[in-house]
Amino acid sequence: MKYFIGNWKMFGIPGSIKILDRINNYVKKDKARSKNYKVIISPPYTLLENFTKSFKNKKISISAQNCFHKNNYGSHTGFVSPYMIKKLGVKHVIIGHSENREAGENNHILKEKVLASVKNNLNIIFCIGENKYEKRKKLTLNVLKNQIRKSLDKKYDFKKILIAYEPIWSIGSGKLPSENELSNIIINLKNFLKMNYNKKHNFRILYGGSVDSKSIHKFKKIKHLDGFLIGGASKSSKKFIDIIKNFYK
Ligand code: PGA
Repeated sequence: MKYFIGNWKMFGIPGSIKILDRINNYVKKDKARSKNYKVIISPPYTLLENFTKSFKNKKISISAQNCFHKNNYGSHTGFVSPYMIKKLGVKHVIIGHSENREAGENNHILKEKVLASVKNNLNIIFCIGENKYEKRKKLTLNVLKNQIRKSLDKKYDFKKILIAYEPIWSIGSGKLPSENELSNIIINLKNFLKMNYNKKHNFRILYGGSVDSKSIHKFKKIKHLDGFLIGGASKSSKKFIDIIKNFYK
């Protein structure tokens, strides 16, 4: 199964539902191939309820972009807990996106967010990634393994966790890792997860960072990759659909 996950970030108003309608229609028509892939779109909190209701039993699943690190209710102005997300019927949540790590979410808080989401039976898209400096210093794998180790517990059911490798220097920049570089990182991380987490589990790792209808040609050659987390190009139905089309071309 391949995953095409759109991360809308701070984009979208109620009328943007037409983007999802078009994507949904495409997936519906793409019968032969769509058994092999899953589309998840992650709009801002403001659209979660509307989109989740509208796309119930359709070809697209909806994900939240984040959640608070404490569960249930509390005196936390402006935040939304995993419990509140789950109660909307949302099944997925992105945790650890580098934009939020940069805004102050540390490994400890992310660990709590994961735990609170696990308790609510949400599927987690857990983001990891190194910055330009760490890459230059050849610290990439250390950084990624540390981010995994610090927030993900061995006890978790990894059927409900997707890991998204998103090099920070690639997000929104058009800069891409080489095929070789990316392939090695994915293989290395999967080995690390098997050795340290669960020997039997088939861990799934996505790539994110400047994925579009052109760059997908390069990434589709990497067999161990389980899908993509797509930012900019997920805000246009045409661009998003072209990524899927070109992946299978
Ligand atoms: P991008 O963003 O596709 O615009 O590079 C990816 C992300 O931040 O998840």
